[in-house]
Amino acid sequence: MQIRHTCLVLLLVLIAFVWVDAVETIKPFRIEIPQDEVDEVKRRVSQTRLPAQLPNAGWEYGTNYEFLREIIQHWNTSYDWRSEESRLNRFPQYTTEIDGLTIHFIHSKSKSPSTSYPLLFSHGWPGTFLECTKLLHYLNEEENGLSFDVICPSLPGYGFSSPPTQKGFDVPKIASLFVKLMERLNYDRYIVQGGDWGSLVSTHVANLDREHCEGVHINLFMASMFDKGVIATTRGLIDFGLQGAGYLHIQATEPDTVAVGLNDSPAGLAAYLLSKYYRWSDLKGGDLEKIYTKDELLTFIHIYWFTQSIGSSMRLYYEEMQHLEFSKIAKDLYIQQPTGYIQFPAETMKHARWEVEYYYNLVQYSTPESGGHFAALEEPKTLNDDIRSFFEKARPMFKAETQREEL
Ligand SMILES: *[C@@H]1O[C@H](CO)[C@@H](O)[C@H](O)[C@H]1NC(C)=O
Repeated sequence: MQIRHTCLVLLLVLIAFVWVDAVETIKPFRIEIPQDEVDEVKRRVSQTRLPAQLPNAGWEYGTNYEFLREIIQHWNTSYDWRSEESRLNRFPQYTTEIDGLTIHFIHSKSKSPSTSYPLLFSHGWPGTFLECTKLLHYLNEEENGLSFDVICPSLPGYGFSSPPTQKGFDVPKIASLFVKLMERLNYDRYIVQGGDWGSLVSTHVANLDREHCEGVHINLFMASMFDKGVIATTRGLIDFGLQGAGYLHIQATEPDTVAVGLNDSPAGLAAYLLSKYYRWSDLKGGDLEKIYTKDELLTFIHIYWFTQSIGSSMRLYYEEMQHLEFSKIAKDLYIQQPTGYIQFPAETMKHARWEVEYYYNLVQYSTPESGGHFAALEEPKTLNDDIRSFFEKARPMFKAETQREEL
C-alpha cells in the first residue's frame, strides 16, 4: 500500500515535470502561410471595388485612392509573398506558451556576446514585430564595447501571437506576459524600448519588474493622456485629438464593428493602415515611398491579413480606454528606473521635458531633426544612437551596478 502510494506520487511528480516542461518550451518558428491562403488574398485583391473620390482629393479626406490604386495594382500583379516570407524567416523567431497564450517573438542575439545587454522591444499599432527588424541590425553590432540582444515579441492579438480570449486584456496584462517571457529566456536584467502601445507596455514592464528591468527608453509619451491637468497644457494632444484621432475613438468604442470590413477586404485593410503610415511618418515631400517600399507596406498589411489580427489589435484600444488604465498610470505611477525619451519631430503628440519628468526618472530628453511615429522603421540609426547614449548615462544607476559597488 505504502509503496503503491509512493509510486503514484512519483508518477504524478513526473507528469507535472513533463507537463511544465512542455508548456514552457521555446519552439523555433517559421512563417509558413498555406498556399490556398496566399491564392485567396490575390483573388480578393483582383476583385477590388473602390469608391469614387473627389478630383485632387490627395490625402485630405483619408487615404488617397490614386496611391491605393498603385498599391493594389502592384499587389495584383507583382507582389510576391513567398519571397517576403523567406526574407522574414531570416530573423530568428520562436514561440512559447505563457498563461495560455502563444507568444511569438524575434530573439536576435548580439554578434559579440561578451559585450551584450538584453533589450526588450515592444511594437505598437498598426505595427507588427517587424518594427524592430531594421533597428536590430544596429543594436546587435558592437559599438564602443556595447551591443544588445534584442527580444521583440508580437503583442497578444497582433500577428503571430494568439489573441486574448477574455474581456479586459489590457496593457498591464501584456506587460506581465513579457516579464514572464524575459524570465523564461533567463535574462535577469534588461532594458525596455518602445513607441506607441510599446511605450506603455515598456512602462508597465518597468513598473512590474523593478527587480530586473534596469532602464526604459521610449519614443512616445502616453502616461499623461488622461491626466486632465496635463492635457490642458498639451497643445499637440488637442490637435491630434481633433484631426488625427478618429481611428482612436472608433477603436476605443466599437472595434468589432469596423473589424468585419477590414478582416474581409484586403483593399479595405490596406486603406485603413496606409492612412496611418502616411499621417504619422515624417514624409517631408509627402511621398510614402521615400520611406517604405510598396513591398514593405504590403508585407505589414499581410501580417494582419493572414493572422486575421486587425480586430484583436484594435480591441486593445477598447480594453485600455474603457477601463481608463491611463489614469491609473497617471495617478499612481512613477517610473524609478532611469528613462530616456526621444521626441521625433513628426510624432503625433509632443511633450515637454517637465511632463515626462513628472512620471519618469528622466536622464535623457532628445529632439532629433527627422523621423516620425514609426521611428524604428523610419530612423533606425538615430534611434540606435539615442538608445546607446541613454544607456551610457543610465548604466551607473542600474541596480546591478550599484549593488556591485556595495559589495
Ligand atoms: C488584377 O489583374 C487581373 C489580370 O491579371 C485583372 O483581370 C483584374 O482586373 C485586376 N484587378 C485589379 C483590381 O486591378
